[in-house]
Parts: sequence; structure tokens; C-alpha cells
Amino acid sequence: MKILVVLCHPRSDSLTSQIAEAFSEGASKVGHQVKLLDLYKENFDPVLRVEDEPNDGSLENYSLEVQSEFERLNNNDAVVMVFPLWWWSLPAMLKGWIDRVWNYGLMYGSNGHNVKKGLMIAVAGATKEQLIKRDYEAAINTSLNIGILDYCGIENSEIMFLKETNKITKAECLSYIKQAYDKGLSF
Ligand SMILES: Cc1cc2nc3c(=O)[nH]c(=O)nc-3n(C[C@H](O)[C@H](O)[C@H](O)COP(=O)(O)O)c2cc1C
Repeated sequence: MKILVVLCHPRSDSLTSQIAEAFSEGASKVGHQVKLLDLYKENFDPVLRVEDEPNDGSLENYSLEVQSEFERLNNNDAVVMVFPLWWWSLPAMLKGWIDRVWNYGLMYGSNGHNVKKGLMIAVAGATKEQLIKRDYEAAINTSLNIGILDYCGIENSEIMFLKETNKITKAECLSYIKQAYDKGLSF
């Protein structure tokens, strides 16, 4: 399978970045072709502007950057987004990539696209109890998994939460990295 791994974190030595790398290693190990899109490293502009919103659903009428980013995404069978959970949602950079590239006539609407499988790996500081207490996990699943992946016709989709990631020990860090690697192996 061709997989686009979309990494969103400002620091290349962050746990989130290591998780993306471990997932990619696991997936490559079992024969998937993995490509990385590092939004910060590529200096992606997350702001949707007038030229990104032709509202007619024709790829050729979108800005050149949206056209090329959509083609990069659509050249894959699967997409895996790896990000820190910020304010119970996506960081603005990743949200902007979705705003601009997962647009009408590209990822939703009457057209078809090639992405059949989706995974979001959310790296959260909160504990399991904090996530359950206010139903955050269910709410995030509804807004991101159903609201974005499923809405765009990617029925084989899920969110994996890596919880309690603040102030972790070296051993805990390795355990998260192993979980991500295993997820890649079984993807
Ligand atoms: C701006 C910001 C907002 C955050 N919001 C949340 C949040 O809503 N829920 C949560 O569990 N953790 C939250 N955190 C904690 C991060 O998710 C956590 O520190 C991070 O995922 C750890 O991984 P990293 O070392 O790769 O950044 C937030 C952190 C920052 C910087």
C-alpha cells in the first residue's frame, strides 16, 4: 500500500516526530511504500485564501499549491496523520492543511479520490481518566474521525490516542515508540 504520513510538530526531536518515524519504519518493514510530509519542515502555509476556494470543485481552478498537495495526497492509498493533541483538536498547521487540501471536489463531493484507509495518531498529555471524564475521546472521534475521514469517504479509519505523554521517562518513551512501530507493522 502507498501511505502518506503527515507529521505536524514544530520540533524534529519531539515524541510526536519519533512516533511518526517509528510508524513509518514498521509500515516499511512489512512492504508498504511510505512517504513523509513534514508540514513544519516544508513550511506549509495553513491559511486558506480566496484562490483556494473556487467553489466549483474543479481541480484546475484551485491554487497551484493546493493542486500539487492534493496530487501528493491522492497518489496514496492511505493517509496517516501524526500530531500532538492541542486544545482537544488538531494543531492549526494540520487543520490548515485539511482546510486547504481536503476541499470540495477534491476529497469530498461527487468526485472520487484514491485514499481508502486513514489513521490519526494523537499524542495527548492528558491521562486516560482526564480523557474519559469529559468524554473528550468520544468527542474527538466524532469531530475528527467521523467528521473528516469518514465524511471524505474513508470508511476504514480510526484515531489512536497515545495518552499521558507529558514528563515521561525514557522507558515510557520507548514504549510509545514501540506501539507506533507495531501499528505500522499491522497497518
Ligand atoms: C498548545 C498546546 C495545547 C495542548 N492541549 C492539549 C490538550 O487539549 N489535551 C491534551 O491531552 N494535551 C494537550 N497538550 C499537551 C500535548 O498534547 C503534549 O504535551 C504533547 O503531545 C507531548 O508530545 P510532544 O513532546 O511530541 O509535544 C497541549 C500542548 C500544547 C503545547
